[in-house]
Amino acid sequence: MGRVVLVTGGAGYVGSHTVVELLKAGHTVVVVDNCVNAAKATEGNVLPPALERVQKIAGKTLHFHELSLLNRQALVNVFSKYKVDVVIHLAALKAVGESVEKPLAYYANNITGTLNLLEVMSEVGVKRLIFSSSATVYGVPQYLPADEKHPTGVGVTNPYGQTKYVCEQIMKDLSIADKEWRIVLLRYFNPVGSHESGLIGEDPNGIPNNLVPYISQVAIGRRPHVNVFGNDYNTPDGTGVRDYIHVVDLAIGHEVAIDKIFQSDFAGTKAYNLGTGKGISVLEMITAFSEACGKEISYKIVGRREGDVATVVASCALAEKELNWKATRGLHQMCEDTWRWQSMNPNGFS
Ligand code: UFG
Repeated sequence: MGRVVLVTGGAGYVGSHTVVELLKAGHTVVVVDNCVNAAKATEGNVLPPALERVQKIAGKTLHFHELSLLNRQALVNVFSKYKVDVVIHLAALKAVGESVEKPLAYYANNITGTLNLLEVMSEVGVKRLIFSSSATVYGVPQYLPADEKHPTGVGVTNPYGQTKYVCEQIMKDLSIADKEWRIVLLRYFNPVGSHESGLIGEDPNGIPNNLVPYISQVAIGRRPHVNVFGNDYNTPDGTGVRDYIHVVDLAIGHEVAIDKIFQSDFAGTKAYNLGTGKGISVLEMITAFSEACGKEISYKIVGRREGDVATVVASCALAEKELNWKATRGLHQMCEDTWRWQSMNPNGFS
């Protein structure tokens, strides 16, 4: 059944892919985004380029409002224009290193922004929410694969991670206090890849923090080599192991969460891991990307990056059981699709 879905941060990397899946599934989509981390609309256009392309892929139109969640009144105005059924809240600052340097910006944007959203939703009586959380809430995993029962908030090493943890707590408290709230927390592992069309993808500002966008920029010739942060971890090849998930699988995870949240027996706040359950090392990723793009990828082993852990891998059994969701796109497709986006758009959306 088609719903009216308001997506905060819908012009970003995960957001744009999620909006494609929502439109394809027949939902009406309202995006709000302040475009701090997404290319803005160019002169004469209403939509940011990512959303123009989303419409092209889906063959459907969407609604867009450029605003910050810190602007409470602007948010109230948007809710007064549409009969929103459910909100998918993705808008957040997300660079781990930057969050250490600018904690106030991270706490203000991610926590105050979320509080404003929850308050306005309460006021207008929209009490269904799907929240973009992160495996980072598990801190340094105490056991692997990490399932949803794993303790959260212990050993979270940076303000970005703290904001995800605090937002989760706020949402849990809210749904305890007011039984009308229904909230799904989606804990992402490492999203990579792009839509198969090559029209949308990750377009990081400046030097990429994350491995796959960095490899991709080396492959296109924008950077000389990949710095591999440590090869002395307790992993099969000594490099860090992560659970990479194709962004389209992740996007579909949001779409199925909507069905879940409207089931009559759904209550309170429920967390689901979205990953593949399979660990990939840095060197395995470099090799797979090299195969996908048909080029040698230069790399250098350098020291460990502060705050990194050896291995993070998800247990995704709960999402499979309760959401009937499972990632289907493998490592090769992650690399092929990233490369298609990168080679069709060497400078991203600009
Ligand atoms: N790595 C390199 N070189 C790089 C970048 C990364 O060797 O240039 C390594 C890292 O040391 C790590 C792996 O590649 O072993 C993955 O690193 P990413 O930065 O791509 O991803 P992280 O696992 O560190 O962090 C990501 C997101 C966070 C999220 C976290 C949850 O960036 O937002 O996953 O586990 F919180």
